[in-house]
Amino acid sequence: MSESRTIVITGGTKGLGRAAADAFLAKGDRVWILSRTTPAATGATPHPRLRHLVADVRHRDQLDTAVATIRLESPQLDVWINNAGFGKPVPFHDGDNALWDDMFAVNFWGTVHGTRAALGALRRPGGVIINIASVVGFMAPRGHSAYATAKAAVIALTRANAVEFAAAGIRVNAIAPGPLDTEGFRAAGGDPEKRAQTIPTKKMITPAEIAAACVFLAEPISSLTGQTLVIDGGSQAVGCYA
Ligand SMILES: NC(=O)c1ccc[n+]([C@@H]2O[C@H](COP(=O)([O-])OP(=O)(O)OC[C@H]3O[C@@H](n4cnc5c(N)ncnc54)[C@H](OP(=O)(O)O)[C@@H]3O)[C@@H](O)[C@H]2O)c1
Repeated sequence: MSESRTIVITGGTKGLGRAAADAFLAKGDRVWILSRTTPAATGATPHPRLRHLVADVRHRDQLDTAVATIRLESPQLDVWINNAGFGKPVPFHDGDNALWDDMFAVNFWGTVHGTRAALGALRRPGGVIINIASVVGFMAPRGHSAYATAKAAVIALTRANAVEFAAAGIRVNAIAPGPLDTEGFRAAGGDPEKRAQTIPTKKMITPAEIAAACVFLAEPISSLTGQTLVIDGGSQAVGCYA
C-alpha cells in the first residue's frame, strides 16, 4: 500500500501500543490511539499524524463514539489493533472474582468491543484486525490463571473471527509476545533483568519487535488470517515460561 492508511490502536499511549503507533507513523500512516488517559499525562511525544481519543475498552459505547469521531476524518479504517490489556498474578484460591472480572473486561471484552466497534468501518476487502494476546495464552506460569485464560480466549476469538470475516475480506491475526519491558510489566511486579535470564535469547522482548510484527501483519498478504504469531525469544519452543 503506498497511500497513507488509517490505523487505530487501543491502549496506545505507552508500552507496546505506543511502539506500534511509532512504527506505523514511520511508514507514513495516520494513527489514532485510544486510552483512558491522555498522552500528555504519560509524557508521550506528540506527532502531527498521531491523534488521541479517550475511550475505555471496557465500554463498547465509548469505542463506538471514538470510531464515529475518527470516521469524520477517515471514513474507512485500514488496521485496528486491540492492544489495551494487562496481566497481574493472582492466586486462584483467593476466590475473589473482581480481578478476574477486570482481567476479562479489559483483555477479552475489550477485544470483543474493539472488534465490534471497528467492523463496520474497516475497509472491505483489505481491513486488518490485530489482537495482542500473550504467550501466557499458550503456557501456564504459576499464579496467572486469570490472565492465561483471558489471553487464551483472545487467541480462540482470533481464529473464530478470522473465519467469520473472511468473506468480507477482513483478516484477523494475533501476536503472542513473551515478556516485554514496559510499565505494565513492571507494574505487575516483573523484574526485567531477572526475567531475561529465563528466556532462551537471554533478553526481554522489545516493544519495537512486536511493533514490527504488527506492521508485517498489516501488509496486504490476503491469505494470512486466523494465525497467532508467538514472539517470545524461544520460550515456548523450549517449553519454559518461568
Ligand atoms: N508487558 C508484557 O510483558 C506483555 C507480554 C505479553 C503481552 N502483553 C500485552 O501487550 C499489551 C500491552 O501491554 P503493555 O505492557 O504495553 O501495557 P502498558 O505499558 O501497561 O500500557 C497499557 C496501555 O493500555 C491502556 N489501557 C489500559 N487499560 C485500558 C482500558 N481499559 N481502556 C483503554 N486503554 C487502556 C493504557 O493507557 P491508560 O492507562 O491511559 O488507559 C496504556 O496506553 C497488553 O494487551 C498486554 O496484555 C504484554
